[in-house]
Amino acid sequence: MTFTEKYKDEITEILSRYPVKRSALIPLLYVAQRDQGYVAESTMQEIAHLLRLTPPQVYETVTFYTMFNLKPVGKFHIQVCKSLMCALVGSDTVIAWVHAKLGIVPGETTADRLFTLSVVECLAACGTGPMMQINDDYYEQLTEDKLDRILSDLRSTGTSPLKTGPFMWPESAPLERGA
Ligand code: FES
Repeated sequence: MTFTEKYKDEITEILSRYPVKRSALIPLLYVAQRDQGYVAESTMQEIAHLLRLTPPQVYETVTFYTMFNLKPVGKFHIQVCKSLMCALVGSDTVIAWVHAKLGIVPGETTADRLFTLSVVECLAACGTGPMMQINDDYYEQLTEDKLDRILSDLRSTGTSPLKTGPFMWPESAPLERGA
């Protein structure tokens, strides 16, 4: 079943929100990634067709945002922030710890398909670095002990009480009329 067939109703609902079709690009990519864990090339082509874009226009968007994956990732996707504020407080050290504990470097997945490591740009938790996002959860002010505990928790229960909450987009303030 194609992406378009599988999510026909959700796609129709998403498209109905936007007077300009191409504005639905990010929400549709989100649905694709939720389904597959990454955005496959064939899905990009379907989305391009749906939105009357060219496949390269869709590809450019997928590759611009580090939250979209171009290939399958492990069950737990570790995304270490490497932007300036986190770099100053040790993001390279966190990456080295992950390498020492899991034997992977950025872009790699463990042989058991449990963990993938990526480096990403600022995740808007600059005051509590070094930090990382694993799937939808943030882990901040990382230490080696904390990382050990997080990896162990994820292996044993699939979650960790050390998470500082799932990432949430801020609510948009209502627009003032005439503003
Ligand atoms: S620099 Fe790492 S969250 Fe902003």
